[in-house]
Amino acid sequence: MCGIVGYVGEKKAQPILLSCLKKLEYRGYDSCGIAVDNGGIVVYKDALRVEAMAKSLPRLTGKIGIGHTRWATHGGPSKINAHPHVDCSGNIAVVHNGVITNYSELRRELAKEGHKFTSETDTEVIPHLIERYYQGNLEAAVEKALTKVAGSYAIAVLRSGEAKMVVAKKDSPLVIGIGDGENYVASDVSAFLDYTDRAVYIEDGQIGVITKDCVKIADDGNKVAVKEYKILWNAEEAQKSGYEHFMLKEIHEQPKVIRNTLAEYMRITDESNDVKLAGNGPILMLACGTSYHAALVGKYVFEDLLSVPVRVEIASEFNQQRYILGKTLAFAVTQSGETADTLKAMKRVKGEGGRVVAVTNVVGSTSTRIANQTTYTRAGPEISVAATKTFTAQLMVFYWLAISQIKEDMRRRAGLLSELRSLPSKVQQVLDDETTIKEHAKYLSKFENVFFIGRGVNYPVALEGALKLKEVSYIHAEGYAAGEIKHGPFALLGSETPVIAVVSRDNTYESMLTSIKEIKARKSPVIAVSESEDHDVEDLADLLITVPHVDPILSPIINTVSLQLLAYYTALEKGCPIDFPRNLAKSVTVE
Ligand code: F6R
Repeated sequence: MCGIVGYVGEKKAQPILLSCLKKLEYRGYDSCGIAVDNGGIVVYKDALRVEAMAKSLPRLTGKIGIGHTRWATHGGPSKINAHPHVDCSGNIAVVHNGVITNYSELRRELAKEGHKFTSETDTEVIPHLIERYYQGNLEAAVEKALTKVAGSYAIAVLRSGEAKMVVAKKDSPLVIGIGDGENYVASDVSAFLDYTDRAVYIEDGQIGVITKDCVKIADDGNKVAVKEYKILWNAEEAQKSGYEHFMLKEIHEQPKVIRNTLAEYMRITDESNDVKLAGNGPILMLACGTSYHAALVGKYVFEDLLSVPVRVEIASEFNQQRYILGKTLAFAVTQSGETADTLKAMKRVKGEGGRVVAVTNVVGSTSTRIANQTTYTRAGPEISVAATKTFTAQLMVFYWLAISQIKEDMRRRAGLLSELRSLPSKVQQVLDDETTIKEHAKYLSKFENVFFIGRGVNYPVALEGALKLKEVSYIHAEGYAAGEIKHGPFALLGSETPVIAVVSRDNTYESMLTSIKEIKARKSPVIAVSESEDHDVEDLADLLITVPHVDPILSPIINTVSLQLLAYYTALEKGCPIDFPRNLAKSVTVE
């Protein structure tokens, strides 16, 4: 998704903008650009990576500037479509994230007035609208311009000779970084973490004016108090630290993530993080992608341990439904806290009288400001586009909430708590056994289609295993409930279509063995993920990934870690750009 950065201060803006843009690369982009007030607005942009564009730039001395990484929506990746965009005079420059839905109409109107457009983007109408309304006050012109615009936006605006950035947002993320004698703006905090850990969030509909010494925010012309957040991440956590890819580093951080999440939750007793699960009627969970798979695991966990019924909905589908919800308790699961579909679903639940708990990894993210209550995952910054450690952290939140609320079977509660504490060392065992997984990945990389199957609490693990494999290795992979595979997908089985079976020692065990036998009878090679010393599975499977024993309800964590490694090493074998898969973005801020 597009990324925005901006700087105003005492230093040269150019190197700071470029370093901030590099930090946003993980969001996925196809072109980039900067605009600096260098005694007049100068714009450099191209369909290049930030590093390549940086090489072609002259040294600019201006101390204020904005920058952008673009993820094409309107018009393909090209120099002309890249941001920043400027008005006719070239004095006003704008970077934008979001989609202006009425841009064609605005463009026609502005063209009639003599405005000349050079790109195919929706964004270009914004500097022209600001130009139309500019009468000596930039923020007033931006505010007026935005009244004409429909859709979503986060924007940063510069005007030549004015030592300030004007920023605004609606349904797209934007955060201001506070420094000493300098200030920043960005789509997310990781952009400016090297320079400051102090952040101010701006809300939908507000206008911010940022100079080197001051940040002013106004809502409908009225001054708003500026609330500062301290970001708990440090710049080092967002480095590769010797790993070849962020994805591998983040997979390996999972024992630490589990420990941190447990430590955090075990000391929390106050109301703010104690979400009562029983007595609310059915719980709703809303999420997308990997977070949706985590929510599905959460469903099995809440239902199994607390007998609380849970309905899980893909947020974008939930947003199509029209029935009235009423006083539902909903969990919005979103690592970034900025996924447009999930945010929209949260607003709908609140609008219909429900209560929303955000489960997110990003302090101060939009989800936390929509939610009635937030419970944070403690995964640290996740840079790789493919979510790994944040999935595990989300599961840990669900396990903690459920286990800590077991009221009757106290032996089960104590047993599970002790198993939770042993998870870091068990995950470490999986990580230490990478060699076998690497070998299996070499084998898997030769195939074009793969099925993943699981049952019960490991059905979402099959879905997640398939998602991870397809997104990083580009192998077509489908996750299926094991019992469902005979209702159609059997037609695709054969020696060219391996099946990865996630086997757990619970009440699904016997039926998983039956499924594997049926698959073997159709000649598909089977890679089984199962506990060590499981001779029945050993006899049936062609290849084995063995994992340590845990209580089956906790097995999704151990099993998923092994499938993350399998996906990673398959992608590595195929030479794929693992951290930045084609066409994907880390935080999907458009619907
Ligand atoms: C896959 C992946 C995506 C995200 C999805 C939701 O590896 O990362 O499927 O899980 O875009 O993102 P969040 O959790 O930020 O709402």
